[in-house]
Amino acid sequence: MTRRTRTDTLADWDRKYLWHPFTQMQEWENEKTLIIERGKGSYLIDMDGRKYLDGTSSIWVNLHGHRHAALDRAIKKQLEHIAHSTLLGLSNPPAILLARELIRIAPRGLSRVFYSDDGSTAVEVALKMAVQYWQQRDPTAGPKKSFLHLKLAYHGDTIGAVSVGNIELFHSRFKPLLFPTLVADPPYCYRCPLKLTYPSCQMTCLEPIKEILRTQHEELAGFIIEPLVQAAAGMITSPPGYLKRIRELCSKYRVLLIADEVATGFGRTGKMFACQHEEVTPDLMAISKGLTGGYMPLAATLTTEEVYSAFLGKYEDFKTFFHGHSYTGNPLGCAVALANLGVFRKAKTLSQLRSKIAELKRVLRPLATLPHVGDIRQCGLMAGIELVKDRQTAEPFPIEERIGHRVAQEASRQGLLIRPLGHVIVLIPPLATSSRLLARMVAILDRSIRIVTGC
Ligand SMILES: Cc1ncc(COP(=O)(O)O)c(C=O)c1O
Repeated sequence: MTRRTRTDTLADWDRKYLWHPFTQMQEWENEKTLIIERGKGSYLIDMDGRKYLDGTSSIWVNLHGHRHAALDRAIKKQLEHIAHSTLLGLSNPPAILLARELIRIAPRGLSRVFYSDDGSTAVEVALKMAVQYWQQRDPTAGPKKSFLHLKLAYHGDTIGAVSVGNIELFHSRFKPLLFPTLVADPPYCYRCPLKLTYPSCQMTCLEPIKEILRTQHEELAGFIIEPLVQAAAGMITSPPGYLKRIRELCSKYRVLLIADEVATGFGRTGKMFACQHEEVTPDLMAISKGLTGGYMPLAATLTTEEVYSAFLGKYEDFKTFFHGHSYTGNPLGCAVALANLGVFRKAKTLSQLRSKIAELKRVLRPLATLPHVGDIRQCGLMAGIELVKDRQTAEPFPIEERIGHRVAQEASRQGLLIRPLGHVIVLIPPLATSSRLLARMVAILDRSIRIVTGC
């Protein structure tokens, strides 16, 4: 079989056998299938040897680049010992060592690590822990069993995570399966629900949240939030001080603060965790994605000694947290996650990031003058460019124009892979991407937006 034929055959089999996530398969079947066979640094390489810049970090997971020698080595080395053994009734060295390291780097006060498989399960664990915590901490109080979250929130695709999510397009179908929650407006300054302007608004959007907490704290187990950036909503960044105020309000009204750092964790925002920008310690913190540097599926929910201790007792008290997955604490995943944290130290990833974040800001700035760019939002190496039909009124493009998708297709032709969120063009490159390549990515975006919008 020639090289060319192999690509065609696999593309046929893809169309015949696979069902891709978040994908209209009827359209997929008519589009050219891009099959990625290899990767190196910030590049993905297809079956025909064509190179593409990885503008999504392979859906927000890759940090130090593809085929990183230390990460490759960590997996090979662990394979010489064992690929998997369970954490149910047993332990393993990588899981222990990683838990210790995670507590070392986490916001101060988090002291326990509960492993799971992906961002959604880390969120499910946090929700279940919160509800059980209140049952056991204060059995005489009324049931604290509901959750507050923001509109446009995204916390994953399992039923609990969808219940605390609020993206109509993704979630509305599943409403019959979801539990009721309380919802508040997000700090979406570009489309402020209160029609105010930051900073003169003095974050008035916090008032309704305060009111919900004040009046309904007795039934609220937790407030779940994506700290600093509502990522899947279109990189909606919150104003400085917003998260800290949420922390204060949650403490005041005895509601657990659950920080979903699945997207923002591991350097994406410029610090190891987004909460650390505002010196916030959540009561529960969900992490995944960058945990293994984008190598293996692994997740964890971190919590405080206060929460953990509410689960202690004799077996027959039934305070055990009855939750776990087959691959919980998988040694291969934990070994590569440990190596990932090692690279952070050796390559000084966080301090290297400062100049890259500034460079990304510099190269994004001129795009603000394009006639169809409504807003540019950036937090660390997470950026969203919101395209609008009319800049004066911020009127969005009609959904059927698939503006984001068309820009992504054009960018792909020019050698950059991105995945838009509706009409928001998203750039989340690996943290290791050089300033030169960041500039190249933005130049491709600039050209692609101009071509697709005809300006
Ligand atoms: C903030 C946040 N939470 C949870 C998830 C779900 O993670 P996973 O896709 O690994 O289940 C995501 C995924 O994008 C996310 O952005």
